[in-house]
Amino acid sequence: MRGATITGTGRYVPERVLSNADLERMVDTSDEWIVERTGIRERRVAAPEQASSDLALIASQRALEMAGVAASDIDQIILATTTPDRILPSCACTLQQKLGATGAAAYDMFAACTGFVFGLGIARGLIIGGVADTVLVVGVEVLTRIVDFNDRNTAVLFGDAAGAAVLQPCADGEGLLAVDMHSDGELGEVLEVPAGISRNPASEATVKAREHYIRMQGKKLFPFAVRSMEDSTRKVIAQAGWTADQIDLCIPHQANLRIIDAVRERLGMPEDRMVVNIERYGNTSSASIPVALDEVVRAGRLKPGDRLGMCAFGGGATWGAAAVSWTRARVEPGISDETGGTVAIAGSAEPERLA
Ligand code: ACO
Repeated sequence: MRGATITGTGRYVPERVLSNADLERMVDTSDEWIVERTGIRERRVAAPEQASSDLALIASQRALEMAGVAASDIDQIILATTTPDRILPSCACTLQQKLGATGAAAYDMFAACTGFVFGLGIARGLIIGGVADTVLVVGVEVLTRIVDFNDRNTAVLFGDAAGAAVLQPCADGEGLLAVDMHSDGELGEVLEVPAGISRNPASEATVKAREHYIRMQGKKLFPFAVRSMEDSTRKVIAQAGWTADQIDLCIPHQANLRIIDAVRERLGMPEDRMVVNIERYGNTSSASIPVALDEVVRAGRLKPGDRLGMCAFGGGATWGAAAVSWTRARVEPGISDETGGTVAIAGSAEPERLA
C-alpha cells in the first residue's frame, strides 16, 4: 500500500487590485463595514484578456517546477472552478493544451469553494489505488466576471486567483492521511447563479434580470459554514489519529474572517496556527486554499512531519477537510515568489467592466 503526498505547489494572482475604497465609489458600502464584517481590505481582478485557464497555467507551471515534474508526466488534471473559460470545452482540457500535458486525462470539478479539497480527495484515491502516479489539482476562479457590482451583498466579497498542487506517491502513513467530503443539495438555493445553462438558458430577459450573476443568502450560509468546517476538520483529525491541539497549521477556506475565527475558537486553536490571507484576496472560492498553501510553503512555514489541516465549505452546498502529514522539504524563501506581495496600482483600480 502506498500513500499520496503534495510534492509541489504554485499560485498566481492577477496584478490589478480592487480596494475597499474603490468599491465605496461603486456601491453603497464602506471600508469600515467590509473590514469589520468580513476582514477583507482588497481583492485581485483579472485583466480583460485573462480567463481562468490563463491564471491556472501560471500557478500550475510553478507547482510543476517545484515538484520537478514535466507536463508530459502528468496522468490526470483535476481542475476545480465555478468560472471555467467556457462551459464547453472544459477548462481542464484548455489548461492541458496550454501546459502541453498530452498524456493527461483532464476534467473540471464543480464543487464551488470546496473544489480543491474534493480534488485532493479524488487525487489521493487515484494514487493510492494505483490508477495514476502524478495528478495536478488546480483551484482557479475569475469570480469578478460573475459578480454583480450593483449588489453590495456580494460585490465586496469575491476575487480572482489560481492555486495548484502536484500529488505523487509516498510511503504509507505519510502525506494525505485523510480527506472528508460532503454535499447537501437542499441548500442549493442559498448560493446560485440563476441562469445561463439548461435550467434557464441565456436570453435577453435573463441578461436584463441580471440572472447571470451570483446571488447569495449570506446570513443562512454563515452558521452552516462554521459548523460544517468544524465537523469535517474534527473527522479528518480523528482519522489521522491526531488531536486538534496537535495541528501545526490549519488552512481554512477564506470566506469571512469571522467564520475563520469562529472555527478556530471551536477547535481550540491558537491564532498563529490558522492561516489567514483574506485581507489581501477576499474570497477566491476554490483557489483560496491552494493559494494560501503555496504562500506558507514558500515562506518556509511547513517542515517535514508537520501536521497540516485544510477545511472548506461552499455552494451546492459542499464541505470537506483534509489532514496532511507534510513530507516535502522546506522551500527556500524567495523562490518564484513574485506574486506574494500586494501590487499597488496607480490611479483608479476599477476594471473597465466595473467602471
Ligand atoms: N456594505 C454595507 N452594508 C451592507 C453590505 C455592504 N457591502 N452588505 C450588506 N449590508 C447591510 C445589509 O443590508 C444589512 O442591513 P440591514 O440590517 O439594514 O438589513 C446589514 O448590512 C447586515 O447584513 P447581514 O447580512 O446581517 O450582514 P452579516 O454580518 O451577516 O455579513 C456576510 C454578511 C459578510 C455576507 C456574511 O453573512 C457572510 O460572510 N456569510 C457567509 C457568506 C459566504 O461565505 N459566502 C461564500 C460561500 S463560498 C462559495 O461557494 C462561492
